[in-house]
Amino acid sequence: MKGLDEHSAPRVTKEGIRLHEPEDFAGMRRAGRVVAEILDALGPIVEPGVRTAEIDDFVRRRIEELGAVSATIGYKGYRHATCISVNHVVCHGIPGSEIPPSKHERRPRGNDILIDGDILNIDVTVIVDGWHGDSSRMYVAGRPKPYARRLIQVTHDALMKGIEQVRPGATFGDIGAAIQAHAEAAGCSIVRDFCGHGLGRVFHAPPNVLHYGRPGTGPRLQPGMFFTIEPMVNLGRPETQVLADGWTAITRDRSLSAQFEHSVGVTEDGCEIFTLSPAGLFHPTRR
Ligand code: MF3
Ligand code: CO
Ligand code: CO
Repeated sequence: MKGLDEHSAPRVTKEGIRLHEPEDFAGMRRAGRVVAEILDALGPIVEPGVRTAEIDDFVRRRIEELGAVSATIGYKGYRHATCISVNHVVCHGIPGSEIPPSKHERRPRGNDILIDGDILNIDVTVIVDGWHGDSSRMYVAGRPKPYARRLIQVTHDALMKGIEQVRPGATFGDIGAAIQAHAEAAGCSIVRDFCGHGLGRVFHAPPNVLHYGRPGTGPRLQPGMFFTIEPMVNLGRPETQVLADGWTAITRDRSLSAQFEHSVGVTEDGCEIFTLSPAGLFHPTRR
């Protein structure tokens, strides 16, 4: 079998999930760190009066300065280094595009300027030496309402409850069930229309990582699986609607939505979070 060593034969489960080698963790660690450093820097930048396009410009510059490449520019025709999803935008908000109106707020039309009390998810994906780092966090402009703060906390806690399930032998259903249980116990709902995903040398790979489900169902986790967990949690109903731009997803009932995302890897005895904040920020809504 000349020329066939373990590196020329990638290991894949029957569900099509790639099992990476121990040395691949180093690549994911570098990519995850770049994203986390960039997200760490955004806390002080998010203020009332700032345009979402300016935040995107900043991220684009930082990615370049750090010697990385944006995974989203050119991805399926997307043209930006971030997705910025404000208030009732669930995900894939386009920086520089008008923030869609809702019944619950008054804001000037025809611009992308943040106003006092806005909450927003900023999602960044970079490629470093071929490896993808994908993470997002919530930020606040000015002083958000108490129910908005609470939604952010519930969503972050739901993500971490999901991550706590990650170890060899657990199932993807265990992750989804833990996330769903936490969000629903808090009176919030889990978005079904978008999910996490495998990643590594590719941006979006199997499996679909659902943020709801039943314990013990779905594929079993094995060492070397790399994937994102990125729950979207709504204050109201879970249904979403994609706007005519083909990207922006909003809540159908225009209720507030929040999201956090980490890229993780399954280790021999648990989980490594590749995108944890190097500054130790829980999330940079506290300055
Ligand atoms: N970063 C997003 C995710 O979590 C994907 C964004 S794709 C884009 O998977 F094209 F909208 F940027
Ligand atoms: Co993702
Ligand atoms: Co993302």
